Amino acid sequence: MSTPNFLQEKLGIQYPIILAPMFLVSNEEMIIEALRAGITGAIPALNYRSIEDFQAAIRSIRKKQKGPFGINLIVNRSNIHLEKQLEVCCSEKVDFIITSLGSPKEVIREVHKYGGLVFCDVTSYEYAQKVEQLGADAVIAVGSEAGGHAGPVKSVELIRELKEHCNLPIISAGGISNHASYQERMDLDIAGVSVGTIFIASKESPVSEKYKQACVNYGANDIVTTTKLSGVPCTVINTPYVQKMGVKQSFFLRFLNKRKSLKKWLKSLTFLLGMKKLRNAAFGYDYKEVWCAGPSIEHVKEIKSITAIVQDITGSTS
Ligand SMILES: Cc1cc2nc3c(=O)[nH]c(=O)nc-3n(C[C@H](O)[C@H](O)[C@H](O)COP(=O)(O)O)c2cc1C
Repeated sequence: MSTPNFLQEKLGIQYPIILAPMFLVSNEEMIIEALRAGITGAIPALNYRSIEDFQAAIRSIRKKQKGPFGINLIVNRSNIHLEKQLEVCCSEKVDFIITSLGSPKEVIREVHKYGGLVFCDVTSYEYAQKVEQLGADAVIAVGSEAGGHAGPVKSVELIRELKEHCNLPIISAGGISNHASYQERMDLDIAGVSVGTIFIASKESPVSEKYKQACVNYGANDIVTTTKLSGVPCTVINTPYVQKMGVKQSFFLRFLNKRKSLKKWLKSLTFLLGMKKLRNAAFGYDYKEVWCAGPSIEHVKEIKSITAIVQDITGSTS
């Protein structure tokens, strides 16, 4: 389906770009600056420790800046707060929801009741067909170049497969780092892009200067995939600490994970410990430098404002 103006028409934004939801990174200030720069953005609900903080953040953005923005909900069983987070999204009538890691069925049903939109992260056309049947409004095609939980298929190939097997508008995520890569992706006749990594080193990002500077100093070849954090493969910068820690779960943990009785409990524990590690590293609370980012850091040469980054991508720099 050819839907080049889907995002602009549905959301009324200038450029078809989403500042991607990034755990610990995307926050209120970034969304406000994204809206001022003519794009939209989304925050993971997981970034907030309490439901009250989560609701207050949505209201605070609305107070300070007009424009549509989204919330990212993790829709698998690891998210024990999903019901409450969804309730808040519905009562605040959040413009769009990005679902990841599970079935979006209930989210689609509830969000459509108030006229909100639901975009679902997908890494294969088979999964895209499922969310299409459930009534999703668009898919976010997460390619193998993405930061975070990257998919197994290269973006261009995934887009081709989605066009063949699915009728939803496609928003492409993974590897957008400058105007050339943005234009190349948009030339595939898609609805827009979701961009994460290159915004980590923005002036408005809340993470430590060390993390931002690492995005400047390291390159694409320094990105490795680890299963040590959440259990699910996740891309991180190969810092000396990551090299020392290794990127594979120990044999003992893998052995325990095979035992049905322990699996669920161990998964939750691994997830919680991994998230704590990432939080401590992101804000410089300790020396254990585990920083999530994707290969797009290759093109991050300095810490810039979000407006300047958007101008770089869209080619609108004066
Ligand atoms: C630091 C970081 C944290 C992320 N956290 C999340 C998250 O909480 N939820 C989610 O759905 N995707 C998350 N992602 C994936 C992004 O939403 C997006 O798909 C990805 O950044 C796109 O690829 P790019 O980094 O090459 O631009 C994260 C990515 C990064 C780099």
